[in-house]
Amino acid sequence: MIRNDELEQILEEIDLKSDVPADEPMRQYYFIKKAREIIDLESQKLGRRLTADGETFGCQMNAKDSEKLTGILKAVGFEVIDSEDADLVFYNTCTVRDNANQRVYGRLGIVGGMKKKNPHKKIALCGCMMQEPSVIEKIKKSYSFVDLIFGTHNIYKFAELLSDMYSSDRMIIDIWEDTDKIVEDLPAKRKYSFKSGVNIMYGCNNYCSYCIVPYVRGRERSRDPKDIIREIEKLVSEGVIEVMLLGQNVNSYGRTLNEPMSFSQLLREVEKIEGLERIRFMTSHPKDLSDELIDVMKNSKKICRHLHLPLQAGSTRILKAMNRCYTKEQYLELAHKIRREIPDISLTTDIIVGFPGETAADVDETIEVVKEVGYDNAFTFIYSKRTGTPAAGMPNPISDAEIKENFDRLLKVVQETARSRIGRLTGEVHSVLVEEINEHDDALVTGRLSNNTIVHFKGDSGLIGKIVNVKLTQACGFYYMGEKI
Ligand code: SAH
Ligand code: SF4
Ligand code: F3S
Repeated sequence: MIRNDELEQILEEIDLKSDVPADEPMRQYYFIKKAREIIDLESQKLGRRLTADGETFGCQMNAKDSEKLTGILKAVGFEVIDSEDADLVFYNTCTVRDNANQRVYGRLGIVGGMKKKNPHKKIALCGCMMQEPSVIEKIKKSYSFVDLIFGTHNIYKFAELLSDMYSSDRMIIDIWEDTDKIVEDLPAKRKYSFKSGVNIMYGCNNYCSYCIVPYVRGRERSRDPKDIIREIEKLVSEGVIEVMLLGQNVNSYGRTLNEPMSFSQLLREVEKIEGLERIRFMTSHPKDLSDELIDVMKNSKKICRHLHLPLQAGSTRILKAMNRCYTKEQYLELAHKIRREIPDISLTTDIIVGFPGETAADVDETIEVVKEVGYDNAFTFIYSKRTGTPAAGMPNPISDAEIKENFDRLLKVVQETARSRIGRLTGEVHSVLVEEINEHDDALVTGRLSNNTIVHFKGDSGLIGKIVNVKLTQACGFYYMGEKI
């Protein structure tokens, strides 16, 4: 990340008549300046500033990538708006389950119609779906109006790609299979002024047998701890008080560094940053969760009382087929240890139902784990076959109707457990980070407890971004109503 004033200073020094710099990030600074000229010219032709909009699908990684892409759009001179009517729309796609893909195709159908009426409109596609060759073939064939396609490994090149796109009438496609490159110090437009995601690693090496992420996000690589700390310090100097450290498996952070460092060690360093109030992280793979991490969390004043610990399945047989590298018993032991050491912690999880060969008896075991652990929340998904993953080749004798039945059975228990867990703090006073004005009632504000539970209470926009003490007066299913004290 780079601050605006720093970027402007660098851009002033760049001469567009000189050779294009070979090294990053200088090369991209050059193209930011070049794209600025192009966008200025286009805006003059149009008689108004060009507008741009980003639509994001998928996980926090994609949300973070979209902030980087939007930062570049702003830096090159677009007015960023929140409407697909914009002169440039990018779709940052997800392919973790098939319904994510279908949603993108649906949107493309609509935006393609808009482009027919407004031919200067530009459409860009990026993100995980674009890393699949079959998707590119389909877009070339059925959505030929798309102007630019790039993948997950080269988003830092967006300014360069925009320059190419505005200088060409053809569809520009730039997809890399993998990368070991991490480009630092590019602009980003944050959605919230007071909280931010921070990438600590990219990619995934775990190859859970159902999951496409390792294929579309590449090998695991950790960011240099110095770059992470520098970024968080910068964010704090701009008013950020909560960070979410992002990685597909944060517990394996640091293994690929020249000087290896554990995630717990990184957390200790982040904790020292003055002015930072809250630290969150996503996601923790149970197989790599160390005693040291539990210890660091337990003794931390800043790490939030929330751990997202994906279970995926409760049956050891299915876990083995999923390549999750833990048994039901090991998971339960870990969950109990965490609860013993940090009694006020909230545990949440992800569960897949319908993995090839998963029977009703297997799902009974998942339900057992849900009851025993008592999750504050669980995201439940129906298994989606992803081409190219090992599970895609496994036969599945279980019918869709049976899977749906198992899913509904699980969901019922998940909801009952969450409801009874969440209410446990009723009557107590807790600190809340206020995030926004309530969507339905503007006399209320909405914020989050350290344990991630939502709280609504009376207040105004002056409270946004502040941590205040709130009495949790009433538990209402998945959230609290409270009173500021
Ligand atoms: N790295 C994270 C998860 C990333 S994907 C982790 O390991 O926990 C988010 C969730 O999507 C996963 O936890 C899993 O529950 C779900 N998921 C992944 N692949 C899926 C598939 N093929 N079908 C259904 N759900 C899937
Ligand atoms: Fe997918 Fe497993 Fe990696 Fe998570 S840890 S991203 S589920 S392969
Ligand atoms: Fe989806 Fe890619 Fe995230 S596939 S879940 S956006 S890593």
